[in-house]
Amino acid sequence: MKTILVTGGAGFIGSNFIILVLQETNYSVINFDKLTYAGNLENLEGFSKNYKFVKGDIADTDDLKLLDNEEFDYIVNFAAETHVDRSIDSPNIFTITNVIGTQNLLNLALERSVTKFVQISTDEVYGSVAKPDCSTETSPLNPTSPYSASKTAADLIALSYFKTYKLNLNITRCSNNYGPCQFPEKLIPLMINNAANNNSLPVYGDGKNIRDWIYVEDHCGAILKVMEKGINGEIYNIGGNSEKQNIEIVKLILRELDRPETLIHFVEDRKGHDRRYAIDFSKITHELGWKPKTDFNIGMKKTINWYSKNKKWLDNIVSGDYKEYYSKMYEER
Ligand code: NAD
Ligand code: TYD
Repeated sequence: MKTILVTGGAGFIGSNFIILVLQETNYSVINFDKLTYAGNLENLEGFSKNYKFVKGDIADTDDLKLLDNEEFDYIVNFAAETHVDRSIDSPNIFTITNVIGTQNLLNLALERSVTKFVQISTDEVYGSVAKPDCSTETSPLNPTSPYSASKTAADLIALSYFKTYKLNLNITRCSNNYGPCQFPEKLIPLMINNAANNNSLPVYGDGKNIRDWIYVEDHCGAILKVMEKGINGEIYNIGGNSEKQNIEIVKLILRELDRPETLIHFVEDRKGHDRRYAIDFSKITHELGWKPKTDFNIGMKKTINWYSKNKKWLDNIVSGDYKEYYSKMYEER
């Protein structure tokens, strides 16, 4: 039985990935996570067979020694600071975790001669693209936030390890994910939570910024495919084929929850706010036979339903350590 070292597996996408792996494959999983505000072991409650958790920081080489006695064949790196607004407020931790942390894991992958290292990156490395263009894997890198700049730096270091040391690796660059267990600082869970509680919905700028949205399960399926079948050294874009303006999503959430549009409040724009992300994911479709399965409206219904049924999950977060930050952020808007 082969083992995957998943870093950042207590977060949104990482926990969905671990659940997919444990439910649908024969791999064992070691989840290495620092448990920052975004890490939540509740996401993985009930899983113990073929699964082990190790608490640690990828940016700390002493913590990585906790893995000295563990055997693993793959590393899939989800661990990161991920929120653009936080990267504008406190950029340094983004470089520490996303750049130094990734480099530490690349060194570990070399030492252990892993079968494959998969770096989970983002479409934000390409920066904003005007309609009708879409970024391909060879498009110029043009990150604009401290978050996307740190992810870009990590991608370039990873590629240098492939060229220089022949480390087997892939990079995936996915668009915006939505689905169960996403921390309620990101657009969709924040708007669902606020609408459910009849609080105002803070839309940045004119609300016409565009993102491509993918249901998290589809992203996780693509990652597994890349880990097993991706050609070494290659980058794969992963997309959901669902470009939406933010305001369309906010209105959809209000309709689904039967709340009035008067809850919408247009607030000051995010600094350096990228207007549109759009990616061409034809490479992964042609080379690996992957495409997204979930229609956006169906995925949104499932997501809204999940948050309604798991109100306790949301309440635990909103009333936990995060409360102070959350309340302050909410007041500022
Ligand atoms: P998240 O913020 O929900 O979770 C991040 C996880 O990483 C948390 O469990 C946290 O505790 C852990 N972590 C943070 N710093 C760590 C450290 N120093 N050492 C060990 N663990 C640490 O993030 P997410 O939305 O699940 O994103 C996962 C990955 O996917 C990230 O690399 C992100 O850049 C990428 N990505 C996210 C999206 C998206 O829409 N959410 C889209 C494309 C790519
Ligand atoms: P977000 O979920 O933070 O993802 P990213 O910035 O990484 O794409 O934001 C998605 C879009 O929603 C982005 O254009 C910013 C906007 N947004 C709001 O309008 N209001 C909010 O409260 C948040 C969190 C985001």
